[in-house]
Amino acid sequence: MDLGLENKVAIVTGAARGIGAATARRLAAEGASVVIADINGEGAAATAAALQADGLKAHAVAGDITMAADVDRLVAETLERFGGVHILVNNAGFPRDGRLTKLTETDWDLVVDVILKGAFLASKAVMPHMIEQRWGRIVNISSRAHLGNPGQANYSAAKAGIIGLTRALSLEEGRYEITVNAVAPGFVETEMVRELPHYDQIKERVVRGTPIPRVGRPEDIADAVAFLASERAGFISGETLHVTGGRYAS
Ligand code: NAI
Repeated sequence: MDLGLENKVAIVTGAARGIGAATARRLAAEGASVVIADINGEGAAATAAALQADGLKAHAVAGDITMAADVDRLVAETLERFGGVHILVNNAGFPRDGRLTKLTETDWDLVVDVILKGAFLASKAVMPHMIEQRWGRIVNISSRAHLGNPGQANYSAAKAGIIGLTRALSLEEGRYEITVNAVAPGFVETEMVRELPHYDQIKERVVRGTPIPRVGRPEDIADAVAFLASERAGFISGETLHVTGGRYAS
């Protein structure tokens, strides 16, 4: 299936590593020019360099997705470098886990800001350009945790909030051929989850509860995002696609 991503320009936030990096590679492999946006400037530069070494079109921009000035600079650099912006993948995010009684105000603010405010600011910054070109794709990375995970009140709330944002924006901008969808991954083996305490136990429990008995790979998520970002998904909007190896149904 030709995804029709040739000549499209994509911004992927949090793309220095993990799901974001795999998504950037997937979009670039389909012919898109990809901006690797990350607060980790060195990591972003390394990921962009790795794509360029494979003959793909990539450019790194360092910045904090929760800061409006950084987001505006990200979009300005994208326009300057590649001449447009067609696809935004709001992927930057992380957990700061703890039961409510132990959760600090900082844990709450950090998680809600990076996931929700980051997606808000980036969507707001690209939207005028998508409206002007009468075409756009926004894919927001939620999580199966939007269902509610104990010890993740902040993360679950933010990942549920992302689905609300997705639905609201899909209603606002559909008439401009702009689709807005969410992808909700299950457990995906990335550095983020490998850093979790009790990682091995969590992984074993997840695999036991997953109909397709393995953990997710970043490429599993990248494939779903690439489809939703493509010409082929032009009549799909406001949806949340669960990529969980069937665990969502269990
Ligand atoms: P990761 O930690 O490997 O990558 C996240 C990237 O976001 C990092 O490169 C980090 O530097 C960047 N980042 C963090 N704060 C930022 C900020 N303020 N501005 C710009 N960039 C920032 O994480 P992973 O596992 O690849 O996760 C990516 C997304 O997928 C996250 O939103 C996560 O919540 C979500 N997700 C991950 C799952 C998993 O099992 N790995 C499951 C469900 C959702």
